Amino acid sequence: MRAAAFTDLIGPEGVSLVDRPDPKPGPGEAVVDVDACGINRHDLFILEGDSAMVDADDLPFVTGLDAAGVVGEVGADVRGIEPGDRVVLCPNQTCGTCRFCREGPENTCERFSLYHGGLAESARVQADRLIPLPDGVDTTTAAAIPTAYMTAFHMLRRAEVGPGDLVFVPGATGGVGVATVQLATVFGAETIGTSSSAAKLERVRELGLDHGIESAAIDEIREEVEAIGRPDAVINHLGGEFTGLGQSVLRRGGTMAICGRTAGNESTIDISNLFLGHKRVVGSTMGTQDDLRRLVELVADGDVAPEIDRTYALEDADAAFAAMQDRESVGKIVVEP
Ligand SMILES: NC(=O)c1ccc[n+]([C@@H]2O[C@H](COP(=O)([O-])OP(=O)(O)OC[C@H]3O[C@@H](n4cnc5c(N)ncnc54)[C@H](OP(=O)(O)O)[C@@H]3O)[C@@H](O)[C@H]2O)c1
Ligand SMILES: [Zn+2]
Repeated sequence: MRAAAFTDLIGPEGVSLVDRPDPKPGPGEAVVDVDACGINRHDLFILEGDSAMVDADDLPFVTGLDAAGVVGEVGADVRGIEPGDRVVLCPNQTCGTCRFCREGPENTCERFSLYHGGLAESARVQADRLIPLPDGVDTTTAAAIPTAYMTAFHMLRRAEVGPGDLVFVPGATGGVGVATVQLATVFGAETIGTSSSAAKLERVRELGLDHGIESAAIDEIREEVEAIGRPDAVINHLGGEFTGLGQSVLRRGGTMAICGRTAGNESTIDISNLFLGHKRVVGSTMGTQDDLRRLVELVADGDVAPEIDRTYALEDADAAFAAMQDRESVGKIVVEP
C-alpha cells in the first residue's frame, strides 16, 4: 500500500510517497481502507521539526490522525465492528488504567497520546476507537470532524458556553477556529472572530460568525472586541500574545480555554486583572470519544456541516501541507488516499 510519509522534517518538501506492507490486524484491531484523512496543524508542527513527539530517529513517519473509510478486516476479539462498516477513527490513545482514565474524562489520561498513520491507503487501528458512520455522513466529511471539532466542542463545554453567551475566537478561519464558531452557534452563543484575511473572514461570516475583526494587531483587536462587548468565554488555539489579550478582555468571572500555541508558547498575564476579575484560564486537549460520537450525530442531523476548504490526492499531500503553511484555507484540509 502507498502512504504519504515525512522523510525530512523541513516543511512540505519533506513529504514523499512510500510503499509499505499491507497491514494485518492483531487482536482487538481493525484495518481500515482509508478514503479520507483530515490534516491538522499538529501534523505541520511535526513536519516543520517543531514537535517533541517526533524527531529524525522516527523517519520516515506517517502522520494522519483523522482517518475515515471502510473496515477491510478485523482481528481476533473484535466485537461491534465488521468488514464493510463505514467508520471514523477517534485518534485518542489512552492507557485505560491510570487514575485519570478511571475517573474520566479519558482525554486527561496521564499517558495520553494520539494515533498517527491515516495518511495511507490502509490504517491498522484499535477497533474500539472506531465510530460507525450513519447514512448521510460521507467519509470525506467524517475525516474533517475528529481533532478540530472534538477539541472545539470540549473547550466550549469546559468554558460552559450556553445560549446568549458572547464567545471570542482569535484566529477564526482554520480547523479549530471554524469548528468553534459553528459549534458556539449551535450552542446559541454569539461569536467574535479574527483573521488577517478579509476574504477568509467573509466565508466564516457565511458559516455563522456574528462579528468579524480583520486584524492581527493585538491592541486594535482589543479595542474592537471591547466595543462589541466583554466575552463570557475566549476559545484560544493561537496561544502567544492572544492569551494575555483573551484574559484581559474576558468579562468578570469568564473563562478562557486554551488548546494551542500557533502564535507562540509564551504570554504575559495581568495577574491582578485575573484575580480581581475572578477569571478562569483552563488548558484543554482533544475531547472524548463520546464527544466525537455526538458530533457525528450533529452532522448526521444537519446541525453542523464541517467546512472543508479542499481535498487533495495522497500524492499531493505535500501541497495540502503547503496550503496550511501558507494560511490559504478556511476550515479543514482533507487528503483522500
Ligand atoms: N491541544 C489539542 O488537543 C489541540 C487539538 C487541535 C488543535 N490544537 C492546536 O490548535 C491550533 C490550531 O490548529 P488547527 O489545526 O485548527 O490549525 P489551522 O487550521 O492551521 O489554523 C489556522 C488559523 O490559525 C491562524 N494562524 C496561523 N498562523 C498564525 C500566526 N502565526 N499568528 C496568528 N494566527 C495564525 C490563521 O489565521 P489567519 O486567518 O489570519 O490566516 C487561522 O485562523 C494549533 O496550535 C494546534 O496545535 C490543539
Ligand atoms: Zn490513562
